[in-house]
Amino acid sequence: MSLKNEISKRKTFAIISHPDAGKTTLTEKLLLYSGAIQIAGAVKSNKIKKTAASDFLEIEKQRGISVATSVISFNYKNKKINLLDTPGHKDFAEDTYRTLTAVDSVILVIDCVKGVEEQTERLMEVCRMRKTPVIIFINKLDREGRDPIDLLDELEAKLGINVRPLTYPLGMGYNFRGVYNIYKNTFNFFKSDKLKVEEETEVFNGLDDEGLKKTFGSEADKLKQDVELIDTVYEDFKVEEYLDGNLAPVFFGSAINNFGIKELLETFVEIAPIPVQRITTRGLQNPLDNEFSGFVFKIHANLDPKHRDRIAFLRVCSGKFERNKFYHHVRLNRKMKFANPASFMAQSKTLVETAFPGDVIGLYDSGTFNIGDTLTEGNSYMFKGIPRFSPEVFRLVRNTDPFKSKQLEKGLQYLTDEGLAQLFTHELGNKKVVGVVGELQFDVMKYRLLNEYGASVDFLHMQAYKAFWIKYDSVKDIEEMMNLRSNSLYYDKNKNLVFVADSQYSLQMAKQKNPKVEFLSAVEHNDQTVSLDEAV
Ligand code: G4P
Repeated sequence: MSLKNEISKRKTFAIISHPDAGKTTLTEKLLLYSGAIQIAGAVKSNKIKKTAASDFLEIEKQRGISVATSVISFNYKNKKINLLDTPGHKDFAEDTYRTLTAVDSVILVIDCVKGVEEQTERLMEVCRMRKTPVIIFINKLDREGRDPIDLLDELEAKLGINVRPLTYPLGMGYNFRGVYNIYKNTFNFFKSDKLKVEEETEVFNGLDDEGLKKTFGSEADKLKQDVELIDTVYEDFKVEEYLDGNLAPVFFGSAINNFGIKELLETFVEIAPIPVQRITTRGLQNPLDNEFSGFVFKIHANLDPKHRDRIAFLRVCSGKFERNKFYHHVRLNRKMKFANPASFMAQSKTLVETAFPGDVIGLYDSGTFNIGDTLTEGNSYMFKGIPRFSPEVFRLVRNTDPFKSKQLEKGLQYLTDEGLAQLFTHELGNKKVVGVVGELQFDVMKYRLLNEYGASVDFLHMQAYKAFWIKYDSVKDIEEMMNLRSNSLYYDKNKNLVFVADSQYSLQMAKQKNPKVEFLSAVEHNDQTVSLDEAV
């Protein structure tokens, strides 16, 4: 099959939601519906229900399971669908943001009782920045939720995107009758069936169809009113606007009851984008380019604590990947080949011989990959747009077992390679600070440092507001900082200089006193701001 045909078969996406909206349930139902799995309950949630460390540690012990669901590929209607999993917990949000750089579209799940929640807004922000096409699934219609029109208004107001319902519900909760497909004039009857995936659909001749009235009596009038209102308020759905990331089609359903899944999946397969071109340091990379390229967006380390093996997840962006062929690791300027690249079909792992744009492969690696690394057939460019944000919480690392300093050093390097946390080293090298998105990560790190590296640490409280990557032209520009603020100056892992401000006030002061310096609260993984080493 030609490269073009391979590409046109692929749809790579992620399901995102605020925790508990139904992401895991929807994933499972899509797999059931497509025939990729046969029994309900096969998809294990990798989320952490409570923030208790003990829950997380239990899950950590089963990391082998969660890696198997990192990427799930299945076939549906002659398309190869790659579904990339994202962690549900907000403390792992950065992992989710990175995964969003590797997909071509997303399905956003909203709980009809709760509406747009905090995490939904943040995730949508990332999608908006990248202009990622979004399909919205309003879930849990079997429960008494908010008025659908209000929900649609809230989506537009809070998510900053235009919406267009393609289906509309009749009733809700106890009185939920099903959904009307506005474009196909079909009615999908709600039946609570957690195990069956068939849906009972009837075709009507528009909203004035006698059959509708016969079936629903006066409720049919309400449906007609609502749909007519929708048709006046919302513009017609245009696929191009969805593909441009400006318009999100909306579906209503109930994942747990297998309801609305068929419509969602069929529309997804029809309209979701095939692999698109991506931005690199040398311009746009077209998937149709015959030369292979790809980038690492996620690293999953130490699956087996006895061996220091890691899996680097690589998104193929152009050309054809082949097992055992030499590729160019751009950052290290080194040739590498891979004997055991893996792909993930439902829950089993298989050896990959070839992979095409849109595919995600797992590369076994003993520490050569960082997040954001690019592989090519020889050219030296890097994929852009993989974000690294300032952490929210900072702690000082205290080694509690001096005999294990080397192990600690190694553990910190490896775990921060995974993107679990960021490491900042004071210029004198003896003070190390770990920054994370949520406190839970400290428990995870402590546990993993001990169990995987034999290193024991305490994370000590420190006064810190945020980290700012520093950009400057000449070392003269940062003289004041070097002299008076050196206590707050650290190196990140790429040897970039970072100012860890202890308060908003100290940031303001630093900005005032150093007008030629740029303070960046987010950078790209591959960004190399001028490092002190180079400038001096
Ligand atoms: P998440 O991955 O987004 O965090 O959510 P998940 O699918 O785990 O769903 C969260 C809870 O919502 C689960 O209940 C799930 O059964 C329930 N749920 C999902 N879809 C629907 C739906 O359409 N209707 C209703 N009423 N509930 C739904 P739980 O009690 O937290 O877990 P479980 O014991 O059912 O697994």
